[in-house]
Amino acid sequence: MCGIVGYVGERPCKELLLAGLERLEYRGYDSAGICLLNGDVAITRRVGRVDALREAVGDALHPATTGLAHTRWATHGGVTESNAHPVEACEGSGVTVVHNGIIENYVGLRRDLAGAGHEFHTDTDSEVIAHLVESQYSGDLVEAVRLAYAQLHGHFAFAVLHRDHADEIVAARRQCPLVVGVGEGEMFMASAIPAFLRETRRVQYVMDDEIVVARPDGATFLDPRGTVIERPVEDVDWDDDAAEKQGYETFMLKEILEQPQAIADTIGERLYHGELQLDGLNLSEEQIRGLSRVVILACGTAYHAGLIGRYLLEEWARLPAESDIASEWRYRHPVIDEHSLVIAVSQSGETIDTLAAMKEARDHGAHVLAVTNIMGSQMTRDADSVLYTRAGLEIGVAASKTFTAQVTLMYLLALKLGLVRGTIATERAAKLLAEVRSLPDLAQRTLDRIDAVEPVAERFWQNEFFLYLGRYIGLPIALEGALKLKEISYIPTDAYAAGEMKHGPIALLDESTPVVVVATDNHVYEKVISNVEEVRARGAHVIAVATDGNEDIKQVAEHVFYLPRTEPELQAALAILPLQQLAYGIARRRGLDIDKPRNLAKTVTVE
Ligand code: AGP
Repeated sequence: MCGIVGYVGERPCKELLLAGLERLEYRGYDSAGICLLNGDVAITRRVGRVDALREAVGDALHPATTGLAHTRWATHGGVTESNAHPVEACEGSGVTVVHNGIIENYVGLRRDLAGAGHEFHTDTDSEVIAHLVESQYSGDLVEAVRLAYAQLHGHFAFAVLHRDHADEIVAARRQCPLVVGVGEGEMFMASAIPAFLRETRRVQYVMDDEIVVARPDGATFLDPRGTVIERPVEDVDWDDDAAEKQGYETFMLKEILEQPQAIADTIGERLYHGELQLDGLNLSEEQIRGLSRVVILACGTAYHAGLIGRYLLEEWARLPAESDIASEWRYRHPVIDEHSLVIAVSQSGETIDTLAAMKEARDHGAHVLAVTNIMGSQMTRDADSVLYTRAGLEIGVAASKTFTAQVTLMYLLALKLGLVRGTIATERAAKLLAEVRSLPDLAQRTLDRIDAVEPVAERFWQNEFFLYLGRYIGLPIALEGALKLKEISYIPTDAYAAGEMKHGPIALLDESTPVVVVATDNHVYEKVISNVEEVRARGAHVIAVATDGNEDIKQVAEHVFYLPRTEPELQAALAILPLQQLAYGIARRRGLDIDKPRNLAKTVTVE
């Protein structure tokens, strides 16, 4: 998932574009490039980070006041300088393009264009956009882009510059994010708001299947037929500092430590004097009582939060619930209807598989609830109901605070549905809500126990495999802990239902294997301990996450991460914290780039 930035205005834009690109680097960091239009187009590309590009363009002031920039996450064509963006059409054509997404019919288009004499110089799918615009161009750039757009299949956002149109950037989107930043006598364009947040908080969201023309005095929005569309200017109240490290060594460390606040903000006014109010949940009480099933759809970390939601909805709302990976579910033949609630979870609100699964669900008549962290994201436009996690901007590619915020929202949602459906006793619900209210404090106390985690990271940072085990609500935490370590330390890990281990994965164990076990107090605790015994019998090293007051666990675990005691279900939101810290401590000792792990990107806008 690449990052696009564009500027047209009165100010020299080289530095504005580079700074914007740095803020979007979490979207992909295989290569970067910039094109500056000042009479002619000056293009610079480099493999690697924006730093490399910044070094290549140097500090000299460049007079250009129109330009585009791009940071790449490679999908088509290797990570080379020639495949870096901006991409150009034929030599001398003056057409330059930056693109995020995938052109699914690029092979056919490329063949036809090459047959018509176009010369291709990259292995990317993106280059066909440039040649298509060139082939349609006869002096009107907007029209050329509109005609090119009509021939493209796939999901994408792209922006085009033409040498002969110095005060104009023309862009289009289909499913991949694109937003316009409105300035005084200048306009910005980007894949995400942080790119220009320092310059303006006034934005216009580009909707699906829209073409936008940015000029210094404003932006014009067109539908695919060329009809002008009105698009409101909205103010975003994002905290710009959130996009800064504020003295922390990494964004991820800052975001791990921001979790008590993220949980508190996600609860916010939703829990007031024991009253639970979920504004944004557009379901009547009658509809809630009429629900026949719930399906939770997401990818990666969000999927793990959904798995926790499944347990809670069954437990507290007595609803048949399943949680599935969005990219799988959308190609199943799911049995859902108007009595189904489909909950789509995505911190970015732009993950293409989750968006597509939402569409599938809506096409089947289900009520679709979006749980997201980003105001104005595509997801919020495709859902019947929207509940925001309020974790603040998350820059580190490996999710941390958005996970615990999602889990917190699952607690509130399951309790709300349970109360309306009368499937949970009011006293029990009140007790649970009181405990939810104390989660920020419990999370802070858990994070403060970092001294228990560091020695374990120090002992095992050179190990080449970790196994994670959990049962019931501990299983999604084991899965998430394993994913965190994979993502930022590149150590292969496996996570399994503890009861399933003896059916195969136990073969992976030997005297060197660290096994992380989520063994918090609940009705399956004894079962977990039997599985721990099976692990110990193979000589492996047990690292347990347990509840305060449980001394017995020390008999079977070499290391114990203790959590403050609370309701069994609520332990899940705490149990992930030492596992995030463990992954972080190990990755730091390996000297890896924790905020930008290899091959990953924060927002996955391709299938
Ligand atoms: C998690 O650390 C990863 N960044 C990734 O698995 C992520 O959770 C997944 O891509 C889903 O992203 P979303 O929540 O923005 O949809």
